[in-house]
Amino acid sequence: MQQLENRVAVVYGAAGGIGAAIARLFHAEGATVALVDLTEAALAGTLAECRGPAPVSIHAADVSDPVAVERVTDEIAEGHDGIDIVVNSAGILDETPVLEMSPEVWDRTVAVDLTGAFLTARYAVPHLIARGGGRIINVGSQLGIKGGTGLAHYVSAKAGVIGLGKALALELAPHGILVNTIAPGPIETPLIGGLSEEWKADKRAELPIGRFGSPEEVAPTALLLAASPSGDLYTGQTLGPNSGDVMP
Ligand SMILES: NC(=O)c1ccc[n+]([C@@H]2O[C@H](COP(=O)([O-])OP(=O)(O)OC[C@H]3O[C@@H](n4cnc5c(N)ncnc54)[C@H](O)[C@@H]3O)[C@@H](O)[C@H]2O)c1
Repeated sequence: MQQLENRVAVVYGAAGGIGAAIARLFHAEGATVALVDLTEAALAGTLAECRGPAPVSIHAADVSDPVAVERVTDEIAEGHDGIDIVVNSAGILDETPVLEMSPEVWDRTVAVDLTGAFLTARYAVPHLIARGGGRIINVGSQLGIKGGTGLAHYVSAKAGVIGLGKALALELAPHGILVNTIAPGPIETPLIGGLSEEWKADKRAELPIGRFGSPEEVAPTALLLAASPSGDLYTGQTLGPNSGDVMP
């Protein structure tokens, strides 16, 4: 028996490193998977890697755009006859010292990394309630717990994602909806490609496990939270596949 048989999962940011790994694992575990990213073309690779028999669909939406997120959510619910699981792994990151950070740079990061988590959950909730419950999983960051230099916008947004997860967990528990945050440490994906070598070397030296993780080492945490009975007692939690960087 596969762990997500008869479940419909939406994965935002499914073209990226962590989102793609989660989508592949969920699909291999029997879930019908709706892949969402900025363009459908970006999802071709992930689509080709989902080789099992369960249905897969691709959709374009910017998670910071309420109209697009509502449209794509309704399109997915209609196409797959409901939604059980929402994973939001869409995100952006750039390193900007606070003295050089324009309000526009701040706003864009908060819009994608925090408001995106709100919108993807917000428009899915009616569909999860219609199913009698479900799971919402946001990919935050351990930097939202410990902070980081040159990352005031990103750290603030990711701390907000953790708070959002707790608030939604309390509010949605009566509907059988469990809401959790994954807060990874540094993971080898294009997202951190733009960070300086100096930042990466300093970061590696801080890690008890001594190396960055891979997306395939994060995806099983999402499966744990999405599946039953493994995820049945988790809500409002922040789980940290983070090489030991943060020990709450
Ligand atoms: N890589 C890391 O070290 C690391 C560590 C902690 C947390 N995270 C978080 O994990 C998540 C996934 O990151 P990743 O490392 O896989 O990065 P990635 O860049 O490989 O993937 C991010 C994906 O999000 C998509 N995306 C960006 N803006 C979007 C928008 N407005 N609407 C829809 N999709 C959008 C991108 O197209 C990309 O496919 C992010 O939220 C990131 O902040 C990453």
